[in-house]
Amino acid sequence: YKEIKVALLGAGTVGGGVYKLVERRTAEMPDKVGAELKITKVLVKNLQKKREGIPSEVLTDDWEGIIHDPEISIVIELMGGVEPARTYILQALEAGKNVVTANKDLLAEHGQELMEAAERNHRDLCFEAAVGGGIPIIRPLKECLAGNEITEVMGIVNGTTNYILTKMTQEGWDFDDALKEAQRLGFAEADPTADVEGLDAGRKMAILASIAFHSRVTFKDVDVKGITKITAKDIQYAKEFGYTLKLLGVARNEEGKMEVGVSPMMIPSTHPLANVNDSFNAVFVHGDAVDDAMFQGRGAGEFPTASAVVGDLISVARDMQYDCCGRIGCSCYKNLSMKPAGE
Ligand code: NDP
Ligand code: HSE
Repeated sequence: YKEIKVALLGAGTVGGGVYKLVERRTAEMPDKVGAELKITKVLVKNLQKKREGIPSEVLTDDWEGIIHDPEISIVIELMGGVEPARTYILQALEAGKNVVTANKDLLAEHGQELMEAAERNHRDLCFEAAVGGGIPIIRPLKECLAGNEITEVMGIVNGTTNYILTKMTQEGWDFDDALKEAQRLGFAEADPTADVEGLDAGRKMAILASIAFHSRVTFKDVDVKGITKITAKDIQYAKEFGYTLKLLGVARNEEGKMEVGVSPMMIPSTHPLANVNDSFNAVFVHGDAVDDAMFQGRGAGEFPTASAVVGDLISVARDMQYDCCGRIGCSCYKNLSMKPAGE
């Protein structure tokens, strides 16, 4: 089999998970992709840091050595933040490399610029992990639900705040302890202000609204309130009246009027969203044909997020291999060797 070489930018919570998951799937890649997949370089800031599961010989702090390596055809950006991630992704696309990213901060501000660069260079830019961690939501909105006029997308799109509110509601933890634990578990952003002030959820809602409503929605179009002012008393009060407090993102596009916002809301404790707990996320979509559809799963953390990134990686690699999409139902998929059941 041909070997497709991949560079990983970032070896933190998600980057580390992606490296390990690709290793775990190595033997299956020829069947899934029609090629071997190999992460040959991993870009980090601090070369001295000890990294479990990543061999030191692939680590580098030299971006130039990656961008000028003609053998690397896919770049996975998992550093976070706007710069230098934006510049590196643009350079990678211009150099003819395909890109996978989980960077919602960047997409919510510069998504249009990046997508235009991908189109101009006939390259893929995939970002399933940017919203909802391991939940498939970007591709379903773009593809499976494309036959709908979508009028509403709403739900829980931040794992850290959902974890904090769950622990405060169910176990009486205080806010700071719950946040510390969410950080320890790898759910929170490098600066957790983005989580607790609702900025991360706002960025994700901008991405979802852009796709669902075919509009350019950026973070500045989103009305955002976080959970820092929620007290144990608020939670207790809601509970007594049969409600649960959740940080909800809501995007509506009805009769030409679009509204996108994030704020803490009291929802009846019998509502399905009231029972989405810990770091789980859930997204409801309303379309004129499908009616209501709900997507639910782990919204943050090492392997749930790596699941979405590696899914994108495999999809991009199939695309390169067969010059096509590699999806079930497409003729290229039939080219992949399928073992008889039970083998
Ligand atoms: P971490 O902070 O854990 O890891 C970031 C990694 O990027 C580190 O390895 C760091 O290097 C490296 N890095 C940062 N800046 C640079 C730079 N300028 N040059 C080279 N390397 C750099 O972040 P996460 O893994 O949690 O998140 C990564 C991305 O995934 C972010 O965009 C985040 O929003 C997104 N995301 C995160 C999820 C999660 O559950 N954590 C879920 C979904 C998306 P070093 O180790 O040397 O410091
Ligand atoms: N900090 C984010 C969250 C990571 O807690 O949801 C997943 O995007």
